[in-house]
Amino acid sequence: MRIDILTLFPGLFQNFMAESMISIALKAKALSLRIVNIRDYTQDRHRTADDYPYGGGAGMIMKPEPLYEAITSCLGETKKPVIYFTPQGRLLKQEIVWNYSQEKELILLCGHYKEIDQRIRDTLVTDELSIGDYVLSGGEIPAMVFIDALARLLPGVLNDIDSALTDSHQNGLLGSPHYTRPPDFMGLKVPEVLLSGNHQNIDLWRQEKSVEITRRNRPDLYRAWKRKKQSE
Ligand code: ADE
Repeated sequence: MRIDILTLFPGLFQNFMAESMISIALKAKALSLRIVNIRDYTQDRHRTADDYPYGGGAGMIMKPEPLYEAITSCLGETKKPVIYFTPQGRLLKQEIVWNYSQEKELILLCGHYKEIDQRIRDTLVTDELSIGDYVLSGGEIPAMVFIDALARLLPGVLNDIDSALTDSHQNGLLGSPHYTRPPDFMGLKVPEVLLSGNHQNIDLWRQEKSVEITRRNRPDLYRAWKRKKQSE
């Protein structure tokens, strides 16, 4: 998968690309990332990327011309999703990440300052995503969140696909607790069933724990899961 990231702050992506799973995905060539500096598409000598909002109010708005040039230079001939990160977007979910993991090419647009000019959203942006009900100073961290969630689903990145299939949110429930050695840590014991070698019982225990944790921490997900189960 090839992803173009349009940003005013390219430096933010340097460590992100150099460490951990993203660097593995890049080395394995499962993923290729190109960082595009929106300021390179400005046309005045001050390289101005933002301006005051029409109608007044606080905050600066990213100008349409550099965004238009930057996006169209990445679009080329092929149609591909142009995703803009904004708190006004639809809420990012694992299912959405799975759907995008099927694409070959994506363009991610990171806004900064207050917003981007609406005309770019109306004409070039194909999808708007939010990573949660809070406001960040820009779309760079949401873009990293999205790429991280996406990269681990790409073939050849996680060495054990089971570890993606047993993630939280994969079946509508949160994941179950995990333990590793030692079996006794400061008097705290690993649950007996996990040491039993009985995989049927282990699966049952994990399912019960998933339901319990989801019910406690995410009653909204629990209700949806229960409704779905009852209708099956
Ligand atoms: N930009 C600012 N806040 C954001 C959020 N919560 N999600 C996505 N993009 C954003």
